[in-house]
Amino acid sequence: MTADKAPHHTNRVARYYEQNTSSFLLLGSDGGSSAIHIALWPEGVNTVEDAMNVAHDLIYKAIQDTPIPITRVADLGCGVGSALLYLRNRLSTDTQLEGLTIGTLNKHQIHTTNDSQIRIQSGDFHKAASLLPQCEFAFAIEAFAHAAAPDQFFQQVGQLLPPGGRLVIIDDICTTEKPPSKHLNRYRSNWLTPSVLPLSTLDKYATKAGLVRTETKNLTPWIHLGRPRDVLLRWSLPLWSWTARWWNYAKSMQGGDARQRCLENNETEFTMLIYEKQDA
Ligand SMILES: C[S@@+](CC[C@H](N)C(=O)[O-])C[C@H]1O[C@@H](n2cnc3c(N)ncnc32)[C@H](O)[C@@H]1O
Repeated sequence: MTADKAPHHTNRVARYYEQNTSSFLLLGSDGGSSAIHIALWPEGVNTVEDAMNVAHDLIYKAIQDTPIPITRVADLGCGVGSALLYLRNRLSTDTQLEGLTIGTLNKHQIHTTNDSQIRIQSGDFHKAASLLPQCEFAFAIEAFAHAAAPDQFFQQVGQLLPPGGRLVIIDDICTTEKPPSKHLNRYRSNWLTPSVLPLSTLDKYATKAGLVRTETKNLTPWIHLGRPRDVLLRWSLPLWSWTARWWNYAKSMQGGDARQRCLENNETEFTMLIYEKQDA
């Protein structure tokens, strides 16, 4: 995306979340939850609540593994703040938790406003370094894919982190550099996710920002693909195509089906990436 189109895209993402956050929380693909990401079902996870917390727990463990002391953590694209709340209940009380989000309505924010450990701001992660103080750890769960300028996202995180600090991205990554399928095109356009990109592209931007990838974990096997409601949705897609002209949420459901097809066809993988900031 060219630099002049980036602010326009970010405004569209903000509007998308202003209009749809209530529906995502109520009707989300996992039947209603307090987070806006896909449920993960490794062995031993049996409830939706636990499945939603799997991503949060991966972040918690990555914080514990970071080689430098952590005083401040940033959630870049924090939605309603569910990951921050999960971390607040586990990290020491002197760890400050910062969130940036756009378009997710205040009324949905699940932390209490008098919680001095958590601060959520409405703000664009493309400007993270000017909105937040230095953080030793930053993460983005299903938010990076929305970036209009992924190079700028990495550049800002590079400024935010000190040497030894870490960035975790949990998101869909393309497994190939081949031209995108019609499903990937639909997923990117209906979900406003132009940064579903090949790993080599992310690594290139990371390197420019002084970050090196240290860990990669494919989480796709933990996703329940093709559940009865997904099959029903696919079967009734022609109906959604018609309503999607005037009902935004239907467009989002079409995008959700396209995303599933990309995961099923192995064109994308839901992946956790850990990057570490190098010495200057
Ligand atoms: C799919 S939701 C995920 C929310 C949260 N990470 C979670 O797991 O529940 C994507 C989030 O990214 C945020 N987002 C997208 N683009 C952003 C930007 N440029 N700056 C800040 N937040 C952004 C949206 O506001 C939304 O909250």
